[in-house]
Amino acid sequence: MKKKTNNKKLDLVSMSDIDSNDVWEILSLTKKLKAKPLLKSNLLKNQSVALIFAKPSLRTRVSFEVGVTQLGGKSVTIKMDEISVGIRENVEDIANVLSRYVSSIVIRTYEQKQIEDLARFSLVPVVNGLSNEEHPCQVVSDLFTINEIFNKLSGLKISYIGDGNNIAHSLLIGAALTNMDISIATPKGYEPNKHYVAIARKINPKINIEITNSPLNASRDANVLYTDVWVSMGQEDEMRKRKKIFAPYQINDKLLQVANKNAIVLHCLPAHKEQEITSKVFSRFSEIIYEQAENRLHAQKAILIKLIDSK
Ligand code: CP
Ligand code: NVA
Repeated sequence: MKKKTNNKKLDLVSMSDIDSNDVWEILSLTKKLKAKPLLKSNLLKNQSVALIFAKPSLRTRVSFEVGVTQLGGKSVTIKMDEISVGIRENVEDIANVLSRYVSSIVIRTYEQKQIEDLARFSLVPVVNGLSNEEHPCQVVSDLFTINEIFNKLSGLKISYIGDGNNIAHSLLIGAALTNMDISIATPKGYEPNKHYVAIARKINPKINIEITNSPLNASRDANVLYTDVWVSMGQEDEMRKRKKIFAPYQINDKLLQVANKNAIVLHCLPAHKEQEITSKVFSRFSEIIYEQAENRLHAQKAILIKLIDSK
């Protein structure tokens, strides 16, 4: 893991903060924690973790709160409007003060830069719990889920259908780190940011990265079909327009037919059935999708251990 700042702590601000060795270390630790949830139950004894949320959350908030409890610590959940970063006080002061109370900070916000700034000033590890640009905790955990099912990652093909958003960006890097081919199908104008495509290509020039507007082409021979909401948090005023534009970008039987016959379907959730995924496909893969959500808990504990233990 890269050290972004002068002090000795590590952060998970972007999926590109970790290298492929880190990924496999985290996945192996995740497996141990899933088998034995109270492993490392003293790691955070008498310590606290701050969880800052500027957007709603079910999975990230609850899995971090439960995970911190299982590691022997206490979480302090803060709604962003209570601290009003940049309005009530600046990021530098918040980072320095929180660092004196807690042993790490998880933050879900809009701007990736706000998380980078927090990490720059914080004396303790900072974890990105989702920004407009990235969702590394989700993708680390998804890599675990895929590996759990196929018993390998290298050589698989993952196809992401929908918006070229935070999930798509972190998936691009995650695929590159684990040697998976990745196809991303979005409507014109909603492709992933070229910056993330370039990072993925640089990390792993050998994998096949396809950015297309054809969900059918993207899904061909896929081992994993993955989708996310058409309207991310903060884009609610674009709902009507997006529902029209994204209508052809739905995981349904047609796409499953061209995928590998043993393909699985993943969804980071929350899901909007009959929009990005049909109810029928969701029901068929619901056990895997719920397991995918469960794995957030185990994977995030592994991330916290890796960040805090190697401080
Ligand atoms: N997938 C995910 O991050 O869910 P929440 O938005 O509920 O945390
Ligand atoms: N792209 C979605 C992910 C939710 C976990 C959003 O940002 O709202």
